[in-house]
Amino acid sequence: MGEAHTDIKETITPYLSAEKIAARVAEIAAEIDRDFAGKHVTLLGTLRGAIMFLADLARAITLPVTLEFIKVSSYGGQSESNGEVQLDFPFQMDLKGQNVIIVEDIVDMGYTARWLREYLQSFDPADLRLCTLLDKPDRRKVPVKIDYMGFSIPDEFVVGYGLDFAQRHRNLPYVGILKG
Ligand code: IMP
Ligand code: MG
Repeated sequence: MGEAHTDIKETITPYLSAEKIAARVAEIAAEIDRDFAGKHVTLLGTLRGAIMFLADLARAITLPVTLEFIKVSSYGGQSESNGEVQLDFPFQMDLKGQNVIIVEDIVDMGYTARWLREYLQSFDPADLRLCTLLDKPDRRKVPVKIDYMGFSIPDEFVVGYGLDFAQRHRNLPYVGILKG
């Protein structure tokens, strides 16, 4: 970091404004409120990318909500997965009988989401759904069922609103396309 930053020639082109994201988050929260009316939901966010989305979504949902987190990573480079997923940080709660909504930043090739669905299903939740802010369907390698989706985006590398490149840009309030 520090001086190394001067060597980085990146441009970030705004793609989804903070306002547009907030409007979509409110719509998804309303869908969840309707689908789970009278019930309690557990939002299980994936660290670190989903934290902004999870924080906004949780505040827009009016049902009783529990927050839980899991951290997984895929082997391979910074922007490419080779399909192998490892659990870095397990969740603590008993998910048995809970209405669990996995909250993801982005479904890209689909390996991470597929792994999460299979892994979490083994804890016997009453309901298990997947909510992702972004979906890059053109990149999919394995099919993934997505229950709630913010935006379907083209095959571009995006950063901001939680998403990173080499741990940078997560704090941008909008989502932008990164060119390096
Ligand atoms: P998948 O297993 O290929 O679906 O990869 C999902 C993970 O790859 C996400 O949770 C992100 O951490 C990362 N990822 C994929 N595409 C992007 C992107 O455009 N920007 C930032 N991270 C991405
Ligand atoms: Mg990442």
